[in-house]
Amino acid sequence: MSGITKETQVAVVGGGAMGAGIAQIAAAAGHQVVLYDTRTEAAEKAIAGIHRTFTMLAEKGKMSFDLAQASSKRLHLASDLQQLSKAGLVIEAIVENLGIKQALFAELENIVADDCILASNTSSISITALAAKLRLPGRFVGMHFFNPVPLMALVEIIRGLATEQAVADQLYATAQDWGKNPVHAKSTPGFIVNRVARPYYAEALRLLNEQAADPATIDLIMRESGGFRMGPFELMDMIGHDVNFAVTNTVYQAYFNDPRFTPSLLQQELLSAGYLGKKSGRGFYHYGEDAVMPQGASEAAQDAPAQVAMRGDCVVTSALAERFSNAGMTLVAATDDDDEILFSCGDARVYLCDGRTATQRAHHAQFANTIVLDLALDFLSAKRVVLAVADQCHPSARQAVIGALQAAGYAVTCMDDVAGMVVMRTVAMLANEAADAVNQGVCDVAAVDTAMQKGVNYPRGPLQWADAIGVARIVNVLQHMAAWYGEDRYRISPLLQRKKCSGRKFYD
Ligand SMILES: NC(=O)c1ccc[n+]([C@@H]2O[C@H](COP(=O)([O-])OP(=O)(O)OC[C@H]3O[C@@H](n4cnc5c(N)ncnc54)[C@H](O)[C@@H]3O)[C@@H](O)[C@H]2O)c1
Repeated sequence: MSGITKETQVAVVGGGAMGAGIAQIAAAAGHQVVLYDTRTEAAEKAIAGIHRTFTMLAEKGKMSFDLAQASSKRLHLASDLQQLSKAGLVIEAIVENLGIKQALFAELENIVADDCILASNTSSISITALAAKLRLPGRFVGMHFFNPVPLMALVEIIRGLATEQAVADQLYATAQDWGKNPVHAKSTPGFIVNRVARPYYAEALRLLNEQAADPATIDLIMRESGGFRMGPFELMDMIGHDVNFAVTNTVYQAYFNDPRFTPSLLQQELLSAGYLGKKSGRGFYHYGEDAVMPQGASEAAQDAPAQVAMRGDCVVTSALAERFSNAGMTLVAATDDDDEILFSCGDARVYLCDGRTATQRAHHAQFANTIVLDLALDFLSAKRVVLAVADQCHPSARQAVIGALQAAGYAVTCMDDVAGMVVMRTVAMLANEAADAVNQGVCDVAAVDTAMQKGVNYPRGPLQWADAIGVARIVNVLQHMAAWYGEDRYRISPLLQRKKCSGRKFYD
């Protein structure tokens, strides 16, 4: 299936942040573009802004002057909806309101030709519901761009119940022609990204609620150990708590109050106080000229032990062994009979987090000096590693482990001893949600990973991550967390359980 032809006129309705971006990329891709906004001044402002952007791109050498000029000429202002009559594709990016959007599309159906594709950029409204009152609902489809449109590669192409597959396929090919990375999805609350990303915020909020660490420390862990571009608290502050809380609430209610999506009281408190994040000068952090950004907690330097005893041959142990040995430390083979130990030193045993607290693990193994290591994106290159220490662990054992990891070049954060720690619980819950989206036919495996990498810049797709660390490990983490918290929130996706039982990967 090919995309719409270059000769097809594209109409954009709504000249706000999203509409302007969509008009820009459609014009740059070679289409004549008509932009309409009920506030004509908004459409004028959008077109003037796009002209400036094209000039700036040409000056920076990112676009030829000829293309910039030609693209600018392809942008046209519509002062009346009737002027959209020649469009072959209309993309709506107006206010997020079902009734207002439905009224617009009803009006548009009387203006455009019967073969014109009607698309909505809605981020939360059901495509099925938006199409319900149309005369020709088969040509209606969701085309969900991400902000800022010219920079973000992802476009979710959303099919409602009535959407014809050929229409979705043609829009998918069109998004590709416009230089985007589209994915197909079925119309369900949050589509892919706004659903699968919920645990990224929710697990951090739960950790804060449990006083596991402060926001700056959790952000630091997610960046320097998890490899995420932004930590969850700084990201929520940037998005705005009004917006982020509204999305969480919409998804929660749309899934009939599924506990997996329960909003956080902490975020509601911020909203009640008017602390909306960066835009209001205060959220989890303070902003403004005099504000000092907290750095997050790191352990003070400790002496390195003489030697480290390594155990097992998993990818984590081999990466740690390489870092220890590159630092000139003496490595010996561990003699303990516990296969799950990563390494031991100074009477301490260090395990990769399996969803149990270090204290619980120490109790189960009847071994006091137990320390749990959080997951890192890549232990070979990570700047930071994170530890939780059993309550019954002796301080000297704790110091030896910190010293060994510091000698290997890691910054070390010790956090409170909570189940699932930070990166491991977040990745397990992202993979769980991604697996459920696939299991429920919202999208396929590759689409969910692409969506999370291209739509929210995750360093690795959640299902690729599950494969990399082992689906069985993810299931184990979730099982332990479900038992520890006694909440349905951590129930395991049937698809994860199936993969674990079959020993198959998502990318076999
Ligand atoms: N902002 C984002 O990050 C983002 C991301 C993805 C999707 N979306 C979705 O895109 C849509 C637009 O979002 P935005 O951030 O650009 O909003 P915005 O408030 O910046 O712009 C909306 C524009 O639509 C105009 N408008 C309102 N009702 C209209 C009507 N009936 N006919 C014509 N124009 C009308 C307004 O005058 C305004 O200029 C929403 O559905 C939103 O959920 C937003």
